[in-house]
Amino acid sequence: MNGIVLERERAQAADREEFRRAVLDGLSRRPRAIPAKFLYDARGSALFDEICDLPEYYLTRTETGILRARADDIAALSGPACGLVEFGAGSSVKSRLLLDAMDLAFYAPIDISREHLDASVARLRHDYRALPIVGICADYMALNALPDLPPASRRIGFFPGSSIGNLKPEEAVAFFRKAHALLGRDGALVLGVDLKKDSARLHAAYNDSAGVTAAFTLNLLRRMNRELQATFDLKAFAHEAFYNPDEGRIEIYFRSLCDQLVVVAGKTFSFLEGERVHTEYSYKYEETGLADLAGRGGFRVAHLWSDPERLFAVAYLTGR
Ligand code: AVI
Repeated sequence: MNGIVLERERAQAADREEFRRAVLDGLSRRPRAIPAKFLYDARGSALFDEICDLPEYYLTRTETGILRARADDIAALSGPACGLVEFGAGSSVKSRLLLDAMDLAFYAPIDISREHLDASVARLRHDYRALPIVGICADYMALNALPDLPPASRRIGFFPGSSIGNLKPEEAVAFFRKAHALLGRDGALVLGVDLKKDSARLHAAYNDSAGVTAAFTLNLLRRMNRELQATFDLKAFAHEAFYNPDEGRIEIYFRSLCDQLVVVAGKTFSFLEGERVHTEYSYKYEETGLADLAGRGGFRVAHLWSDPERLFAVAYLTGR
């Protein structure tokens, strides 16, 4: 067996062990919770791509519109020969808007999934032949330094998609601190944030009529069944998502529809009817709240662009 295959199998075994521990730990404590990152197996990632195209999920198309309108401003603010570092790049679709507009010395997408990253880097290398592209396979929250990168006048970070909203405020501050350290004192960060708005609009975005978001949440049960030999009956649980105005966040859970026992990785867990397991927060911001968190992480909001309905914003953060 060749080294690459062995390496991949070792990484898969380590991922599965991390998943097993997180699930057993998350189901054993109260309130029950499983970290959101485990929603993104291959099927979960495909379902999330479908979510981005849903009529109710305004986030992706609104952010893309803002980036398209502001790409030249971002390029002018960033200046010549800078390096673009993307946190959690996925398929790098939005990054192309910046790659097309900016004068870049390199592009370094960071992604936790080796498969996603390799496929995306291969496509980008084909389409941007003159641009040095350095894929970094890592969990950006656990990354303490960037590998050697080509020289650049300064580093510009890119964190789109309201991914900042999936972090609790303290985690968001930790992210800003980390980004600030990785990008350097004269670095900047282009950030996509979902804005506070009427709760009906938010509710619809996370409770779509086609049931794709529900399938995305319940796919976590499917993943536990497959990878941890769990016995979840998908018909005996429901997706639950609502806006909590006091906390300024969407909260997402899967909820048991009856009293039941479920075996996960050889351990039995009891669920009462109505009992739920938390899977995601999606924080929504106003400019002041964002400025406060970014400030605690070493950044200031230099520019904030929005759409006419003020649904979403793209912020350009610089060091304070
Ligand atoms: C990835 N993230 C920004 C999405 C969000 O809107 O918080 C995840 C999501 N979960 C359900 N729908 C979308």
